[in-house]
Amino acid sequence: MRSAKLKAREELAVAGLAIENLRKTYGALSVLHGVSIDIEDGEFVILVGPSGCGKSTLLRMIAGLEDISAGEVRIGGVVVNDVEAKERDIAMVFQNYALYPHMTVAHNLAYSLKLRKVPSAEIAARIRSAASILGLEKYLDRYPRQLSGGQRQRVAMGRAIVRDPQVFLFDEPLSNLDAQLRVAMRAEIKELHQRLKTTTVYVTHDQVEAMTMADKIVVMHDGVVEQIGAPLELYDRPRNLFVASFIGSPSMNFIRGRILCGAFMGQNGLRLPISDAAATAFEGRPVIYGVRPEHFQLTSAGREHSVGVEVVVTEPMGSETQVVVRAPEADNGRSAEGNKDLVCVFRERITARPGDTINVVPDADKTHLFDAESGLRLVLDIH
Ligand SMILES: Nc1ncnc2c1ncn2[C@@H]1O[C@H](COP(=O)(O)OP(=O)(O)OP(=O)(O)O)[C@@H](O)[C@H]1O
Ligand SMILES: [Mg+2]
Repeated sequence: MRSAKLKAREELAVAGLAIENLRKTYGALSVLHGVSIDIEDGEFVILVGPSGCGKSTLLRMIAGLEDISAGEVRIGGVVVNDVEAKERDIAMVFQNYALYPHMTVAHNLAYSLKLRKVPSAEIAARIRSAASILGLEKYLDRYPRQLSGGQRQRVAMGRAIVRDPQVFLFDEPLSNLDAQLRVAMRAEIKELHQRLKTTTVYVTHDQVEAMTMADKIVVMHDGVVEQIGAPLELYDRPRNLFVASFIGSPSMNFIRGRILCGAFMGQNGLRLPISDAAATAFEGRPVIYGVRPEHFQLTSAGREHSVGVEVVVTEPMGSETQVVVRAPEADNGRSAEGNKDLVCVFRERITARPGDTINVVPDADKTHLFDAESGLRLVLDIH
């Protein structure tokens, strides 16, 4: 059933999505301030960002459910700003499923095709195919109220699949599910994408979903794009403090200070290692030092760059141990800001108790430096 359309699509290879300088205002309120994202045909793109930053608004504008105040949305090179939602060949899956309660699963799946006057034999074939992809064959005669949350979510996805659209939009589709079901559905969606290769834009608050499902992550903040890149690119080279603190859980630790004599000297009195190249390039510069919790190692007192810190809380997770530590009181009486607790994650089990001192050392080559004023990542020329 898909073959003719798939073939046409392969020949044209045009279902990419271009979002160019998109703006959205509600009266005097501006919520998107010029968002540009290039999405290639078949790409799986994930939008992340704090609540209220404009993710759903952006999806709804792509879908044609919100007017575009300025800028352009193009699908396969064609500007669709003025194309009605139902003509856009886009299927959207919402967080709350939005199934028709008075219709069976089969009717829910068929509904949009009937509206489009698709012949009934083809509707039946598409439903069969979607139901088999999603494991819904047994439930076709049930009503939504007779299904579990995960099954309802699959029906919502099935409604998108039967349409065989050029673009899928997902707005936090798994956020109502329990942890186990989320993991299972995450794998299903990923497999589905590998099979159908439909261009997809997916919104989530879940770090693991973002890191594991995306070809490309878009980090948004207050209606602007902060950075776009492959998951590990954002993780390894966040371009500013916002992205550095947003990507990764638990968050990166930040310490304010200065590069002095080949190391970082924090306002909290901690002297921490940096790469040799950074030491040469940024000597004397006021910076914010960033180190991810998992880039601390346990060490022993007296080893080079080891710092003694006081254990505040230990959180054994089984596979790893999260430990909140506190730098010893700086004897220079610096501000409280310089003295924030640090979070470390160790692969090994920790026997230390609150109040004990442990020695830790960050991996110098995995530390990050940001300009103290602008918050932008300090980049070495050689990169
Ligand atoms: N119809 C509307 N009128 C006025 N303001 C709106 C309207 N719809 C959304 N907004 C505002 O636009 C901003 C972006 O909202 P949006 O729903 O896109 O955020 P979001 O990133 O999806 O957040 P969340 O993660 O909580 O779902 C918010 O400040 C919201 O209050
Ligand atoms: Mg939203």
